[in-house]
Amino acid sequence: AQTERDLLYKIHEVANTFFQEQLYDTEEGRNVGLAYFRERELKDSIVRKFQLGYSPEQKDAFTEYALEKGYSKEILLSSGLSIFPDNTPGGIDRFRERVIFPIQSFSGRVLGFGARLLRNNVKTAKYLNSPETEIYHKSAVLYGLNHSKQAISKNNLCLLVEGYMDVIAMHQAGIENVVSSSGTALTTAQIKLIKRLTENVTILFDGDAAGIKASFRSIDLLLAEGMNIRVLLFPDGDDPDSFARKHPQQYVEQFIRNEAKDFIAFKSEILLKDAGNDTIKKAEAIRDIVKSVSFVTNALKQEVYLKEISGKFRLSEQSLFNELGLQKQVSQ
Ligand code: CTP
Ligand code: MN
Ligand code: MN
Ligand code: MN
Ligand code: MN
Repeated sequence: AQTERDLLYKIHEVANTFFQEQLYDTEEGRNVGLAYFRERELKDSIVRKFQLGYSPEQKDAFTEYALEKGYSKEILLSSGLSIFPDNTPGGIDRFRERVIFPIQSFSGRVLGFGARLLRNNVKTAKYLNSPETEIYHKSAVLYGLNHSKQAISKNNLCLLVEGYMDVIAMHQAGIENVVSSSGTALTTAQIKLIKRLTENVTILFDGDAAGIKASFRSIDLLLAEGMNIRVLLFPDGDDPDSFARKHPQQYVEQFIRNEAKDFIAFKSEILLKDAGNDTIKKAEAIRDIVKSVSFVTNALKQEVYLKEISGKFRLSEQSLFNELGLQKQVSQ
């Protein structure tokens, strides 16, 4: 028998085809959706590869289409693709007048969608995403993984970026070992997906306050899973998308290789910039870094990291070990 899950997979497949047909086969789709992707300098081949689409302005374009195809109101509702407000007779589409990014599983099944506004505006969220459903668990999916898994294995390295466009622009630039947690804070379930392919991760988050905050959180989680990590923030508010479009592939690859720092160097650079000559702040910064070391699962690695901190700040290893012991007690 067809389960609810089967139907959810099916309706996402139907929707994915619908959004792509809207993009290519309608005037609105070409004038608005395709024009948008071209404005963002995406080649048609990459738009096809990532199965990007367009949801038209008409409020119920998809809902009508799916109902006509025999899908029930119930499945449209539980898929999150349609909304049925109490005071209106028919259903309306969740995604309207947006460009569409299908979110796919490891094996390429469509689980949900991200949808972007065409023009940034303060009142509406820039991205609207599918809600949690029986097939889409946001915290257990990495955007781009189906397209990137081979390159991640081959390079024995996974580049972790913030957004949909970052993954796509990097692919267009020829750098294919890249995934995104799509704006949600990185989770242990997502790290375990990466770990099937490699233990090496380079965090490439946006060079803004939100990017720094997210990278600090991600560092500890990745260390706790035994991953080897490097971190790089892009300069001047760039993100991987804008950076990869500004520079040739070789330069981007070289930049990532040369500028990505180990987490100790990364955290001390940022925390010490804040501290200046303030001794108390400096001590807090060192404690913060040791705190990250307390998440490292391997005792030998822990010692190596402490030695690095010891050298960097000219502190005795013994006092750092003591601090580490205290931090571990706190986190237990
Ligand atoms: N995001 C989201 N909802 C928002 C803002 C962001 O889901 N309102 C997610 C998206 O997956 C987005 C990622 O967080 O790709 C990173 O956010 P941000 O850096 O603000 O967006 P960009 O990816 O840079 O988007 P764009 O380049 O299209 O402006
Ligand atoms: Mn489930
Ligand atoms: Mn960002
Ligand atoms: Mn960004
Ligand atoms: Mn961006």
